[in-house]
Amino acid sequence: MEKVAIVNVKSFGREFPEFLDELKEKVGYVEKFIFSQDASQQELIDKLKDFHYIILGNDPTFKAEFFESCPNLKLIARHGLGFNNVDLEAAKKHNVYVTKEENIIEQDAVAEHAVSLLNVVAKNINIANQMVHQGEWGVRRERLMGYQIRGKVTGVIGYGNIGRRFGEIMKYGYKNRILAYDPYLPSEKAEEYGIELVTLEELMAKSDFISMHCNLTDENKKMINKDTLKKVKKGAILINCARGALVDDEAVLEAVESRDLFGYGADVCSQEPIHPDNPLLNHDHIVLTPHVSVYNLTCTENMNRKVMEDIYLIMEGKKPNVIVNGL
Ligand SMILES: NC(=O)c1ccc[n+]([C@@H]2O[C@H](COP(=O)([O-])OP(=O)(O)OC[C@H]3O[C@@H](n4cnc5c(N)ncnc54)[C@H](O)[C@@H]3O)[C@@H](O)[C@H]2O)c1
Repeated sequence: MEKVAIVNVKSFGREFPEFLDELKEKVGYVEKFIFSQDASQQELIDKLKDFHYIILGNDPTFKAEFFESCPNLKLIARHGLGFNNVDLEAAKKHNVYVTKEENIIEQDAVAEHAVSLLNVVAKNINIANQMVHQGEWGVRRERLMGYQIRGKVTGVIGYGNIGRRFGEIMKYGYKNRILAYDPYLPSEKAEEYGIELVTLEELMAKSDFISMHCNLTDENKKMINKDTLKKVKKGAILINCARGALVDDEAVLEAVESRDLFGYGADVCSQEPIHPDNPLLNHDHIVLTPHVSVYNLTCTENMNRKVMEDIYLIMEGKKPNVIVNGL
């Protein structure tokens, strides 16, 4: 009998309990685990060393030490797109496949969430909602003065799978001019998408709305910081549905307080769950959601199904889909 560990993916089988039953029937033993974001490798080894398949959330991080101690392991299937929490080389060395979701599965969900956050920040919907609930219907309405979105300039940082869909919605729905900063996007592709490739400085200086959609790497940690924010167009709105570590929280708060940024909307945070002392909390123009961009039934069903299929493929002696560690 083989064993499946579902690690930090509360949503697996919650809305679709039949998937848990199916896994148990087809594979054998299935157990759900919740670890802290910074769980030690030893704790992970102690709890997971007998497992063959891991369905993994955004954290914790699996390092070389883990793979050395888990000889049964065949697969880490990321229930998501980012895979910065797995040492890909170490997994490869130990013949463990690392997979992620098919791009298309999360593309609409995250792009739509980014557009939603942009609308909430630009139109102060969070403040308006509080006013109504607190019996302040007509009180200090000037608090709500916001921005129209149509006809402005949108800057997209990272024009991949999700960034491209976000760009499409902004270009064709809101008739925005689209600037993109993506050092890995060929200029022919930019032409094909009808967008303009620019430097990060140019994007910051010219965009009314900036949305982050790049993957987190060693080179781009805190890429939005005091220096980059010095160049931002006064009153721009920054959206981050990619990874919290891409921005310096202190610098973003300062920019919002000085009104260099009109507001910040994010689905991600440098430390998740967010620390109660995080400087981004308690500012009306900063709207945060708890890493839930993919929380819609269509997306959840497809994500659950994809990681199960990866396991079944390996059981049949085949390769799983969307391998990210070159096995
Ligand atoms: N909030 C959520 O729930 C959620 C869900 C899915 C994905 N994500 C995040 O979104 C990210 C993007 O997903 P995707 O499917 O679009 O990935 P993708 O790989 O298709 O696109 C990422 C793009 O970023 C570009 N890029 C890489 N480094 C860059 C840099 N330093 N500066 C600018 N651009 C850079 C790449 O060239 C690529 O075009 C994921 O890595 C993940 O971290 C978040």
